[in-house]
Amino acid sequence: MSFHDAPIDPTSAERLAQSGLELRLVDLDDPAAHYGWLQAERRGFHMTAGNDGQLAEVRAAAPRRRTVGVFDPESLIEAEPVATTQSWAAPLTVPGGAQVPTWCISSVTVAPTHRRRGIARALLEGELRAAAAAGLPLAALTVSETTIYGRYGFGAATFADVIEIETKRVRWTGPDAPGRVRFVEPSRLLPDALRITDAVRAFQPGALRYDEHLLGTAIGLYGDDREKLRTVRYDDANGVPQGFACYGLTPTEGDFTKHTATVRYLLGATDEAVAALWRFLLELDLVSTVRATERPVDEPAVWQLGDLRAARRRRSDRLWLRVLDVPAALAARRYAAPVSLVLEVDDPYGFAAGRFLLEAGADGAGHVARLEGEAPEGAASVALPVSELSAIYLGGVAATTLARAGRVTEHAPGAALVLERAFAAERAPWLTLEF
Ligand SMILES: CC(C)(COP(=O)(O)OP(=O)(O)OC[C@H]1O[C@@H](n2cnc3c(N)ncnc32)[C@H](O)[C@@H]1OP(=O)(O)O)[C@@H](O)C(=O)NCCC(=O)NCCS
Repeated sequence: MSFHDAPIDPTSAERLAQSGLELRLVDLDDPAAHYGWLQAERRGFHMTAGNDGQLAEVRAAAPRRRTVGVFDPESLIEAEPVATTQSWAAPLTVPGGAQVPTWCISSVTVAPTHRRRGIARALLEGELRAAAAAGLPLAALTVSETTIYGRYGFGAATFADVIEIETKRVRWTGPDAPGRVRFVEPSRLLPDALRITDAVRAFQPGALRYDEHLLGTAIGLYGDDREKLRTVRYDDANGVPQGFACYGLTPTEGDFTKHTATVRYLLGATDEAVAALWRFLLELDLVSTVRATERPVDEPAVWQLGDLRAARRRRSDRLWLRVLDVPAALAARRYAAPVSLVLEVDDPYGFAAGRFLLEAGADGAGHVARLEGEAPEGAASVALPVSELSAIYLGGVAATTLARAGRVTEHAPGAALVLERAFAAERAPWLTLEF
């Protein structure tokens, strides 16, 4: 049995059945069932109904994810479920470079005719139980609203900036890149883009492995708006592709010199490639504003503009994580400082609940065990909900901030700082692409 055929959660199925609803896996080999599910998902996110071409493209190109629907026998459109989710397992890079198998959840929608009756709760709880049963230490998602997922133990673990740059203020102070930037068709770029994203995943905490459809959509190969996008690739001095960018241009009415270049995705396996692509975009003629979305919070380019205020930044949460298996998750990452720390984790769902002792030495390797008796002498100690443990896990949220916010309790002063120093990551965690 493969991952996407794993049985649906019986507890949630039973709960929904009590309201006359049926929770079931959608058979992706049945085109009508798949199309119905895709239309329900589009409706849930307020998109237009998909035309035959759009649906056929997703059906042909999208990976076979575990696809769940909730069906109401009284629906007038029988093939369309009243609620949807999808999930799949993908490796997530954690501090130190290890890749932790993570249960990714997406496409959570409930029809407006069926909202606020506990359907999303049944779906989410079912996903978490399925993930835990499959032995995955983490679950992850990105959110439409930040108010929805904390109750299930998720915490915001990575952040992303929209960076808007007024190009006339820019005087490039970054390095002169020795390679070159060239336009490339998305289909030709895809294999290089997959290789470059893999190279980035090796050093970038918070990065997930993407399938070809998700990455292809980001570079303009698939998707409703692909005609508006341009794609370029940076090759280093040896001719090796090291980065790429995908952007679209919007004119300003009445002034042809003031286009806005909106960068959908810019990724480089080297700092040189990232700088070269930024410089290319900032020097586009007839462009007065470069607006890049999904940028890391430690973006080096803002230090290469010659004017720090040329860039305006707006930050939002990006990857929401949920620790399911504390020892497995904590042992997988490396620690920036030697530490002996007791974590008392509160998890109403039980998956992560308990007292754990984390010990790490100078080599950064962590050893984690459930703590039955007394804590070792000298160990720092904190109590925190699983959502806060999940938020700090990748090193992108400061434990001292959460302590000051009353979300982490120190059993002795200074414990949050010990935690924060140990959990620091080698660079700001970044989910390079929203899913
Ligand atoms: C968000 C959505 C999935 C919620 O579905 P739902 O079936 O109405 O949610 P439930 O009835 O199971 O609600 C469970 C809990 O979440 C709360 N909740 C649900 N949606 C919420 C929202 N948008 N903001 C804050 N709380 C929300 C409910 O009040 C309830 O709270 P409780 O802990 O007191 O029980 C649904 O409104 C939807 O499809 N929205 C549009 C698409 C979307 O944004 N999806 C999320 C993608 S990340």
